[in-house]
Amino acid sequence: MSPVRSCWYSNIENMIKNAKTNQHPASNGMSNKKILLTGIQPSGAPHIGNYFGMMKQVVEMQDEYESFPFIVDYHALTTVRDKETMRQNILNVATDFLAVGLDPTKSTLFKQSDVQEHTELAWIFNCITTMPFMMRAHAFKEAQEAKKKEITLGLFTYPVLMAADILLYDTDVVPVGKDQQQHVEIARDIAEKFNQTFGETFKLPKALIKEGIAVIPGTDGKKMSKSYGNTIALFAERSEIEKAVMSIVTDSDSERPENVYAIHKLFKTEDELEKLYTENEGKYKILKEALIEDIDAFIAPLREKRVQIAEDKQYILDVLEKGAKVAKARAEAKMQEVRKKIGVIL
Ligand code: TRP
Repeated sequence: MSPVRSCWYSNIENMIKNAKTNQHPASNGMSNKKILLTGIQPSGAPHIGNYFGMMKQVVEMQDEYESFPFIVDYHALTTVRDKETMRQNILNVATDFLAVGLDPTKSTLFKQSDVQEHTELAWIFNCITTMPFMMRAHAFKEAQEAKKKEITLGLFTYPVLMAADILLYDTDVVPVGKDQQQHVEIARDIAEKFNQTFGETFKLPKALIKEGIAVIPGTDGKKMSKSYGNTIALFAERSEIEKAVMSIVTDSDSERPENVYAIHKLFKTEDELEKLYTENEGKYKILKEALIEDIDAFIAPLREKRVQIAEDKQYILDVLEKGAKVAKARAEAKMQEVRKKIGVIL
């Protein structure tokens, strides 16, 4: 048994037991921690924007909340049409989260498709949600404006599946980026509609949006995003870090290269940077070299941990399998309540 694996194995059986009785997995049943749930897109290598914008938060909150970070493979199916890409992306994103410190003895990491109750509940929600209501969703409107793209039913009802994801676990908080705020509101609306129609069943969740860190700047100063090609990969090799930092766009008429500074701030405090940037006014090369060092010092241990975890595929599969059991136990109990409420249990 590998070193990463041995420490968590025995705890998992307890987690499953506790999930069945609706108790916190890491607490032997004594906890009344709030529930945190967030869906993770399996969409290729993460960048530091993903890390500071969301992964870090999820890791930091796993002690305070009962956490359900899960991989939204059925949401990804609205765009991914290749079996190997799907499989690799799912494995990779699980590996990424374990490498940055997600602890499977504290958080329930699982994949959406392993808990069929998500899609079952989404269908029930489809039946109480109107077309005009869904047509107001930003994501749908944007897809519609992009014209050339044909919109599938899956994409249209994407927020309904997301509502099912959230409501199935009596979620209190949903840490997401600003772009997902509307989706969480849709989940609340759907919960209210269900509660009014069939009786009090679902808790109303809240989006948790950290202001300030919501927008992580890329190498060109715009929001860091794969679609702009301005990213720095989270598990980048030293040479990739060098290349990315050297490509940071500097504005030649200011003393302080703002785009360099904006990224540097993620790795050092403003106090620490003050001295460096005042002493090296106008010396962009020196400042960029310092940034390379700081990024590499941060990434190197994560990179090593990731390699170590990735070598043990069975460990990753085990984490997902056990996570699915814990999640499933809860989801099953909630769905049974829902089925009773709508009258399909005789
Ligand atoms: N739509 C979210 C995104 O694009 C992913 C997601 C799916 C999600 N289900 C969720 C996020 C439930 C939070 C809660 O990032």
